[in-house]
Amino acid sequence: MQCTPKIAVYPGTFDPLTLGHLDIIERACGLCDRLIIAVAPNRNKAPLFSLEERLSIVHENVATLSGLTTDIEILPLEGLLVDFAHKHGADFVVRGLRAVSDFEYEFQMAGMNARLTPAIETVFLIASDRCQFISSSLIKEITELGGDVSQFVSLAVRERLRRKTSK
Ligand code: COA
Repeated sequence: MQCTPKIAVYPGTFDPLTLGHLDIIERACGLCDRLIIAVAPNRNKAPLFSLEERLSIVHENVATLSGLTTDIEILPLEGLLVDFAHKHGADFVVRGLRAVSDFEYEFQMAGMNARLTPAIETVFLIASDRCQFISSSLIKEITELGGDVSQFVSLAVRERLRRKTSK
């Protein structure tokens, strides 16, 4: 019997992508045959990096992951997440959970998405110990104030942050 390949979508604003996101990407790869990383415009969050920059950041960081057999695709997230997931034939959505504080927002979002499209499940991965406190907003704040973010983001992201905040 032939199994149909499992497809997952990992959505986020990724402003910027952190080691926490990379941890989720690597682990999500163990759950599916194809992972679509969907980068949201999320203009209401007023991102520091443009959508094009965030897509390029995700591309360059994912390229550094080794030993993955999963097919990874990186796309802009257009429209509703559930419509995007449906259009790409996804079986489930992956989200990372850090602390109890994430739970309420994620619970609400997963609930709304389940009402909109019951066929698409949301699977939560608990952030690894070393990534529990990482937050994109705090990383931007620390960089702007001259702090060291090397333990939270890749070297490439740190360099992009430095260039962006020195403008
Ligand atoms: N490790 C470390 N940090 C993590 C993490 C992990 N495993 N998982 C999330 N984060 C952090 C990020 O750094 C970020 O921090 P910040 O709040 O300080 O910026 C925060 O968690 C969330 O960012 P991100 O993971 O990029 O996702 P998001 O919450 O911005 O993404 C979408 C939200 C894209 C999923 C949502 O807006 C969406 O679905 N949009 C499409 C439109 C839609 O369908 N809307 C209806 C939804 S019901």
